[in-house]
Amino acid sequence: MLEKIKQLLDEVNCLQATSPEEVEALRIKYLSKKGEISALMNDFRSVPAEMKKEIGMRINELKNKATERINELKTSALAQETLSDDVDLTRTPYPIQLGTRHPLTIVKNEIVDIFSRMGFTLAEGPEVEDDWHVYSSMNFADDHPARDMQDTFFVEAHPDIILRSHTSSVQARVMEKQQPPIRVICPGRVYRNEAVSARAHCFFHQVEGLYVDKNVSFKDLKQVLLLFAQEMFGPDTQIRLRPSYFPFTEPSAEMDVSCTICGGKGCSMCKGSGWLEILGCGMVDPAVLEANGIDSTVYTGYAFGMGIERIANLKYQVKDLRMFSENDVRFLEEFTAAN
Ligand code: PHE
Repeated sequence: MLEKIKQLLDEVNCLQATSPEEVEALRIKYLSKKGEISALMNDFRSVPAEMKKEIGMRINELKNKATERINELKTSALAQETLSDDVDLTRTPYPIQLGTRHPLTIVKNEIVDIFSRMGFTLAEGPEVEDDWHVYSSMNFADDHPARDMQDTFFVEAHPDIILRSHTSSVQARVMEKQQPPIRVICPGRVYRNEAVSARAHCFFHQVEGLYVDKNVSFKDLKQVLLLFAQEMFGPDTQIRLRPSYFPFTEPSAEMDVSCTICGGKGCSMCKGSGWLEILGCGMVDPAVLEANGIDSTVYTGYAFGMGIERIANLKYQVKDLRMFSENDVRFLEEFTAAN
């Protein structure tokens, strides 16, 4: 009898079935009232008393094993059946979770797009820069406060290697490689050593433009910026230029646009003035052209630079700068329609 139990145990261990019907046939063969294991139970009566304990244990073991194996086969046969009959693997999964573009990417693309239509091409440069491209070639005096530790992130042990604090470094990189006519737009991330708050961050994004050719004048700059403002904020937008100072432009100006909320009447957004500051600009200082290998007696140029966060704030009224870098999906999903 022990022989018979062992033989059945081997059989049970190797059972196979692919359909629920085959599994049922196995169940009948081994586990039903007229099955192999019931037959063993019947024979059990004639087992001598001293063997009963061991044989009883063996039969139980066999029964458990058979039940376990047949249940396993049943589960996988049912899964196979659902897969082949009911699941259409070619069906599109619903609901489709679409990602959204980041609001800063949306605004950057829009700015780049407007200037591309005016003939500007895209230029990019490294975020980890050297002092020359960020400051010296841009006519910053050696003791200019912007180089100070408070503003600039230095790479430890390499005082000459810094994180760029403005995208003007890309202008330098374009000018050193290319002679005029130059007409480029340079978007990118910049870093400044500032405490992070709702109004300031240690990194933000800029778009800078540079145009160098013969006979480029302030008039050209003004017209291009007016067109940009009207494309970006609507055809009724007006601009105003106020005198300012940058080491790399002379003369320099800051540009305001008529308030995007009240149109110039005065509201809380523009603090009653009717104007919002959006960018810095000016005629490229001849010293910058010379430092970058361009003959300033032949060529003139203009440059402008703006913060992407600032423009995005005016468009979407985001109150806290930190929202742009926290990746809160509830915030990012607000921009699904703007994609
Ligand atoms: N680089 C300046 C800044 O970061 C912006 C600027 C660019 C101003 C070009 C004038 C001309 O503030």
